[in-house]
Amino acid sequence: MTKSAPARPILIAGNWKMNHGPAETRAFFRDLRVPELPSGVQLLLFPPALSLAAARSELEQRPEGFPPVSLGVQNIHWEPAGALTGELSAEMARSAGASHALVGHSERRQLFGESDEDTVRKVAATYRAGLIPVLCVGETLEERRKGSLARVLHRQLDAVIGPEGLRTEIATGPFVLAYEPVWAIGTGETATPDDAAEAHGLLRAHLGERLGRTAGDGIPILYGGSVKPKNARELLAAPEVDGVLVGGASLEAESFAQIAAASVSPQG
Ligand code: PGA
Repeated sequence: MTKSAPARPILIAGNWKMNHGPAETRAFFRDLRVPELPSGVQLLLFPPALSLAAARSELEQRPEGFPPVSLGVQNIHWEPAGALTGELSAEMARSAGASHALVGHSERRQLFGESDEDTVRKVAATYRAGLIPVLCVGETLEERRKGSLARVLHRQLDAVIGPEGLRTEIATGPFVLAYEPVWAIGTGETATPDDAAEAHGLLRAHLGERLGRTAGDGIPILYGGSVKPKNARELLAAPEVDGVLVGGASLEAESFAQIAAASVSPQG
């Protein structure tokens, strides 16, 4: 399969999960050496919220010509403020320097009971605060084995783009989708480029059905799940893959930079 030139941006995103406090965050940015990236390639990192300020101050001191790195938060609550001990609002994330927020990561869904309805509230909160939502969807191994891939992806997507969701806001954008098969997250098991292309194709078609072809085609779809420097190039070359969301391999500056370098000339 060949890849036609996408009009969509390519996003190289890293989700640090519960790793890297402020000191490690500073060290990461001091070590980061990023190659010159083609226009249209964007770097995005999701440090722990407590490390956002450190990330931001390091980025402000980078030499001229260093590629811009956007920052996001890994989770938000949908309320703007209130008696919700331990939670963070989209507004706070925005004022702390975040431009993006992950919503519906499978660890939030599986370990913290986040429901499809919660993802709708959270996506609405990101728009209210001026953040860009990165909605994560993906099937478990059991769902895949039962042949439920399309059903699960449609359900998770319809929660936010279906009739009860935020169709108009999402069609106007910006909106980023991440396909993250649960069986490939943190397991070292990666979807093949064909697996990724199949799921991304299903998502692309569904976006088009719900939002109209033009709006659907404008939404970047990232692949996530054991992306490493050694497999990033072939995954980025797969049809409809508009970037990657990297967990473990984004923790080291060198391996994140190698993955970014894979976007320079993805091969089919
Ligand atoms: P992984 O995590 O790259 O460590 O598999 C991906 C993710 O959870 O976003």
